Amino acid sequence: MSNSEKLHGVLGEFESVDQILAAAEMVKNSGYTKWDCYTPLPVHGLDAAMGVKETRLPWVVLIAGITGGALGLLMQYWMNGIDYKMIISGKPMNSLPASIPVVFETTVLFASIAAFLSMWIFNGLPKWFNPLARMERFARATDDRFFVALSAKDPNFDVKTSSALLESCGASAVEFVEEPDEPAAVPTSIKATMATVAMLALIPLALIMSERGAIKKQPRLHLVPDMDFQEKFRAQSVSGLFADGRAARPQIAGTFALEDDALVGKDPGFYTGKVDGEYLTEAPIAYSDAILARGEERYGISCAPCHGGDANGKGPVHNRAVELGSPMWIQPTDLHSEHLTIQPIGQLFESISVGVRNMPGYAKTVSAKDRWAIAHYLQSIQSTVDTGPVDPNADPGIAAGKLVYMSKACMACHTTDGSPLLAPSFKGLFGSERELEGGTTITADEAYIKDSLLNPTAKLAKGFQPLMPPAVLTDQEFADLITFLKSLAD
Ligand code: HEC
Ligand code: HEC
Repeated sequence: MSNSEKLHGVLGEFESVDQILAAAEMVKNSGYTKWDCYTPLPVHGLDAAMGVKETRLPWVVLIAGITGGALGLLMQYWMNGIDYKMIISGKPMNSLPASIPVVFETTVLFASIAAFLSMWIFNGLPKWFNPLARMERFARATDDRFFVALSAKDPNFDVKTSSALLESCGASAVEFVEEPDEPAAVPTSIKATMATVAMLALIPLALIMSERGAIKKQPRLHLVPDMDFQEKFRAQSVSGLFADGRAARPQIAGTFALEDDALVGKDPGFYTGKVDGEYLTEAPIAYSDAILARGEERYGISCAPCHGGDANGKGPVHNRAVELGSPMWIQPTDLHSEHLTIQPIGQLFESISVGVRNMPGYAKTVSAKDRWAIAHYLQSIQSTVDTGPVDPNADPGIAAGKLVYMSKACMACHTTDGSPLLAPSFKGLFGSERELEGGTTITADEAYIKDSLLNPTAKLAKGFQPLMPPAVLTDQEFADLITFLKSLAD
């Protein structure tokens, strides 16, 4: 005990749970506000007896958690949807499911940091020491005694009445607690040590900073080198391994890189869909329910992303491209299209294998057998398309011209019903005044159409992209096409 005159408070010792509960009730009722109970075990009902309000900590944690979650979501929304858009598997940029893990993490992070810091603040921590801890008797607070401490700072505190109150509550001992006369401030030696450690801790950081900024001739320090340094041949660099200085060997004449290609010679029909330049009209794999089911399944994996589950050319990749307004996007063909119904199955197989116009081939990822299965599937969905009534009195040239329009794939971009697709519609085209890019106009006569086929981009129709591939037609085909176009003129 020090000789300090300054009083910290008064401490009452009790021997049982019942006593401390009764004492707490009485102290509360006497109007004290700055006081506390110390017990060796959790005492049920003590909070109520003391009139302790429920802690505000859960509210702080809830608000911090919600803030953290919202900030996490906002951060990802901004990064992925606004600042640095990146397509991942054609999914929307601002996908909520993808954000959930990070939102969860930021929620927990904010909530737990808030819980930790507010716990310190609410409890008035950190404290250098508590004068109670200097009382010999008080050591039993962790063992078998219960204590009530009234603070001298309480407005109701009075040396006589306060100690009398504790006695009247049945305290087995009442003691005054004095403030020790040592200073409450942190000792200078500890402050100095902490400052020194803090300064020293900056040195490694400063070293790293200066190393990072410095220009070095040697590769930088690698504590964990992983596979950063390894012997390898880099693309486009000279290697001494072979006499010609190249690291990779050129393809040997007469060899094929792909499994399918090597087999082409053995069974050209099966691997290319063509024999002697003619498309197969019968698939080398017979139609069966099992093959059809296989084709449908493979279609769903390899083709549906672009062509859509119901093959109307509007799969998720297409929808995404439209949503982004990609200017050069070509809509995947509606696989119910009429022009495909007249294609021999070998041609469908070829389109799937090596690609067609803007579509890449799938020979590398889909086996030949599966490609035939898909071709069967494509034909199976086509038969459901209604091609409409045929006028028996029409000029046979019109039908022949329509065949050209379909088989030369003009219909992939042009329509006959007046609605522009990727290109102006053929309806009302022939003989009309065409507006060209650059402001000039021209009459769509035979010469212009011939020119459009051979030099499609020379005279660009107003408002369209230069997408059209040149088309080579025989004279007969051209004549039929013109008959067909005339039949569509107004
Ligand atoms: C990456 C998107 C994409 C995928 C995947 C895709 N296609 Fe295509 N496909 C297209 C586009 C785009 C076109 C139109 C190309 C054009 O007109 O330039 C097209 C055209 C076609 C055509 C029309 C050929 C013609 O003669 O007009 C067929 C048939 C076809 N695809 C079948 C398939 C099949 C079968 C698969 C699956 C093995 C597949 N596609 C996968 C984008 C795709
Ligand atoms: C890949 C899409 C595509 C295909 C396939 C295609 N075209 Fe075109 N075509 C276009 C586009 C785009 C334009 C408009 C821009 C231009 O004038 O080049 C166009 C323009 C034309 C024009 C001029 C139209 C006008 O308004 O002045 C004619 C005629 C034409 N195409 C005929 C054909 C014929 C016949 C075929 C089939 C042999 C065909 N096209 C196939 C995309 C295509």
